[in-house]
Amino acid sequence: MRLTTALSLLLGVPGTLVAATTYFRETFDDDAWKTRWLQSSSRADYGKFAISTGTFFADPVASRAFQTQDDARNYAISAPFTKEFDSTNSTFVLQYSVKFERGSNCAGGYIKILPPGVDVARLNGETPYNIMFGPDICGPDQKVHFILNYDKENRMIQGEIPAPIDQLSHLYTLIIYPNQTYAILIDNEVDAEGSLFDDFDFFPPKTIPDPNASKPADWDDRETIDDETDEMPDDWEDEPEEIPDPEDPPPKYWNEDVDGEWFRTMVPNPLWKGEWTPRQIPNPKYKGAWVHPEIANPKYFYHQNVHAYKSAYVAFELWQVTAGSLFDDILVTDSVEEAHAMAAAFVARRVPEYKAKEKLDNEDRARVRREKEAKEKEKAAKGHSEL
Ligand SMILES: *[C@@H]1O[C@H](CO)[C@@H](O)[C@H](O)[C@H]1NC(C)=O
Ligand SMILES: *[C@@H]1O[C@H](CO)[C@@H](O)[C@H](O)[C@H]1NC(C)=O
Ligand SMILES: *[C@@H]1O[C@H](CO)[C@@H](O)[C@H](O)[C@H]1NC(C)=O
Repeated sequence: MRLTTALSLLLGVPGTLVAATTYFRETFDDDAWKTRWLQSSSRADYGKFAISTGTFFADPVASRAFQTQDDARNYAISAPFTKEFDSTNSTFVLQYSVKFERGSNCAGGYIKILPPGVDVARLNGETPYNIMFGPDICGPDQKVHFILNYDKENRMIQGEIPAPIDQLSHLYTLIIYPNQTYAILIDNEVDAEGSLFDDFDFFPPKTIPDPNASKPADWDDRETIDDETDEMPDDWEDEPEEIPDPEDPPPKYWNEDVDGEWFRTMVPNPLWKGEWTPRQIPNPKYKGAWVHPEIANPKYFYHQNVHAYKSAYVAFELWQVTAGSLFDDILVTDSVEEAHAMAAAFVARRVPEYKAKEKLDNEDRARVRREKEAKEKEKAAKGHSEL
C-alpha cells in the first residue's frame, strides 16, 4: 500500500465515454430517504437516525444528513441499491461523507456493502458483508477501515490508513478497479493506493516448510561454546544473592526476650556477582543456522477475481459511544467521473462549513467570556454590599 499525500485527482481516460450506472445515491436533501432506508429489528434498543444539518453547516439543504441520535448504542439500518451490482467487469466506487461533529471520543463511521439475499430486516453485526469501508475513531485510535470478505472471511487491509480527526465533514472514496487495484481518497485526494493482491492476505502461501524435513540431530548451530579451560574463581560464590536488609532493624517496641528473634526482610546483595558462566569461544563445529527447506504448498490456490462482488445494499451497522455523527452524499457507482463530480460539490462546501464552525466557536467563546464577567461583577457587588 502506498500512502499518498500529493494532491492527485484520478480522472477518466479522455475520449472513453462509457455510460455510467448509478447503483445508489442518497443526499438526504428531501424526505424521500424514508422510502429507502430500513431500520433493523434485530434488537429493540438500536439507536435512531434522524435528519440534521448539525450545529454548523455550509448549506441548509445540501448539508442535510443522516445523524446518529443516541449515545452508547448500536445502530443498524440499510437501503437497497436500485439494482444488483456485479463488479466483475466494472469499476466499483463507494463514496460518502462523515462528520464527527462532537469530536473523536468513540464512534464507528464506516459503511458496509451487503450481498443480495441477506436478511436486512434483521441486519446485525453477524450479517455477512462484501466490503466495509470508512473511518473508525476511538480516542487515539483513528483509522480508515478497508475490509473485504473473501472466501467467507473478513480480511483487513495490511497497514494503517489514518483518518482525519476534527469536527468537520470529510469525504471518503473507495475505488476498486477490475484490474484488482484500488484507491482510497479522502476529500477527493488520493490517500492510499495499491494492489489487492499485495495488500490483503487472500490466499494460502505458495510454499510451506517441508514437513518431512527436520534439522539433522548432529547439526551444530551453536556459534560459540564454553571455554573448557575457564574456571570459576574460588571467591566467586562467597557472597549470597540476598542479605537481611540493614535498613530494617527491629522496631523500638520489639523485645527479643518476649517477641523472639526479629527477622529482617531480605534484599538483593550489592556484592553478589551473579551466576558464573564460562568464557565463550568460537565453536569449531559450527555449521550455520539450519534453514528449513520449502516445498510447494499443496493447499495453495489462486483466484483471479478478488475484486468481484455481487452487491445489493448499503448499511450502517455501527457502535457509537459518542453519537451525533453525520453521514451524507452516499454514492455507489461504476463511474469515477460521477464520484468526482459529486466530490467537487462536496469540496466546494468545505470552506463555508469551516467558516460556520469558526463563527459558532467565536460565539461560544464570547458567551463563556460574558458569563465569566457577569459572575465576577456579581461577586464584586456582593463583596461590596457585605462591607
Ligand atoms: C465479464 O466479462 C467476461 C468476458 O467478456 C464475460 O464472459 C462475463 O460474462 C462478464 N461478466 C459480467 C458479470 O459482466
Ligand atoms: C488499473 O486500472 C486503473 C484504471 O483503469 C489504471 O489507472 C491503473 O493504472 C491500472 N493498474 C494496473 C497495475 O494495471
Ligand atoms: C513425506 O514422506 C512420505 C514418505 O516418504 C511421503 O509419502 C510424503 O509424500 C512426503 N510428504 C511431502 C510433503 O513431501
